Amino acid sequence: MSITLVTGSYIFAGLCFILALAGLSKHETAKRGNIFGMVGMGFALVFTILGTVLATTGATPTTGGPNWAIAAILIAMVIGAGVGVTMAVRVEMTGMPQLIALLHSFVGLTAVLVGWNAYFEPMATDSAGLHRGELFVGVFIGAVTFTGSIIAYLKLSAKMKSKPLMLPHHNAINLGAVVVIIGLTVWFVIDPHLWQLIVMTAVSLALGVHLVTSIGGGDMPVVVSMLNSYSGWAAAAAGFTLNNDLLIITGALVGSSGAYLSYIMCKAMNRSFISVIAGGFGSDGQVTGEEKDYGEHHETTAPEVAAMLKSAGSVIITPGYGMAVAQAQAAVADLTAKLRATGVTVRFGIHPVAGRLPGHMNVLLAEAKVPYDIVLEMDEINDDFPNTDVVLVIGANDTVNPAAQDDPTSPIAGMPVLEVWKAGTVVVFKRSMNTGYAGVQNPLFFKDNTLMLFGDAKERVEDIIKAL
Ligand code: TAP
Repeated sequence: MSITLVTGSYIFAGLCFILALAGLSKHETAKRGNIFGMVGMGFALVFTILGTVLATTGATPTTGGPNWAIAAILIAMVIGAGVGVTMAVRVEMTGMPQLIALLHSFVGLTAVLVGWNAYFEPMATDSAGLHRGELFVGVFIGAVTFTGSIIAYLKLSAKMKSKPLMLPHHNAINLGAVVVIIGLTVWFVIDPHLWQLIVMTAVSLALGVHLVTSIGGGDMPVVVSMLNSYSGWAAAAAGFTLNNDLLIITGALVGSSGAYLSYIMCKAMNRSFISVIAGGFGSDGQVTGEEKDYGEHHETTAPEVAAMLKSAGSVIITPGYGMAVAQAQAAVADLTAKLRATGVTVRFGIHPVAGRLPGHMNVLLAEAKVPYDIVLEMDEINDDFPNTDVVLVIGANDTVNPAAQDDPTSPIAGMPVLEVWKAGTVVVFKRSMNTGYAGVQNPLFFKDNTLMLFGDAKERVEDIIKAL
């Protein structure tokens, strides 16, 4: 076993990660992409351990020998794998976004610990200024990722309000923090002291909290992918500090793909990329989203909806987070098959941020074996609503809210939405008149052509299937 073999395996693992990313870009190849990712990570783990053994061979008793290094890594792996497997087995599909946010926070914390550890290594303070700069940048990105991801976890799991916190002068606070951090970095590179590291870590932790608390519920998807990107850069920074090429490559892949995903999402949601990554920078904090009186809503029953569907020529289904909560995808697929068998044209309209994860609805519908060719993106289907007889809004709310177009004071103002209200009749499946994730009322529910079908989405869809 030689260092060359370890380096070769790193290149192989890096290639696997690139193939994994390529595979994950399409439903059809996503499974293959995951397998490449797992193989790459397997190689990375095995050869990192072997590389550590090689590096420590011949070490003196004071620095610890290879046995200690292996034992420490194995113990960490057993604990990590135990926690990981338990969490993965227990988590519901609807809990995935908050789990992912929590995992990002671990990457951030790791980068902070790696940086701090490097400071206390005997060589650290004598090392070149460039290395001290790397250390400082790694701790900065790691700390922002750590606390930002914890806040994202709290918001996504509804343990914290999703409304944006708009402190007075919040832009000045962010700018001030960045200026302090840049100043300390320069000082640390020239003349390092522990207090600079302590102050910078504290300011970065606070900045992470402030950046994510300033973002409103509707913009959380961008924040999640942005934190994904930050966690990649944090890992890359840790790779520089540890002198580990694979960590640098993997971190850069995660960082750049996450940044690109954030950019695509910002475009899809008509948000400024710079504004979102800077914690709502540039927002004047004037969004109110205050309660308005939209009048009366109209209710319907499952047999009435079944009768309406029997006589419909075209139907569009727009699923949202409620479909995931109700686990209604299989029932929705059954309903779709029944309607198509009687000659009704059924298609799905998917909003880019429906649910709580990028592609959440696509994954659920694919799992229920809904044919891909009838599942269309928002841009592909939005012009077809005026020619559609019935729209079934299954557990969606913010993504079909006309206030995004009509009310400039709404927290979701400017976000493109599925224009379902332009169809002949809209049936909304939900359990109550409660708001969606962004916490704003939906005037769609009070329109003359909208009928509310209350109850659990899966039960109501099954009732309709029976009535058909
Ligand atoms: P939401 O606006 O979250 O609304 C979901 C609706 O489903 C709720 O109004 C709820 O009403 C209903 N519901 C919940 N459980 C149900 C059940 N068992 N049966 C029937 N209805 C049920 O959904 P959306 O339209 O998908 O919008 C997604 C929101 O999440 C957006 O604001 C988006 O920005 C945000 N977000 C998205 C992501 C990504 S990447 N997709 C990540 C983070 C945040 P009741 O309580 O009355 O039933």
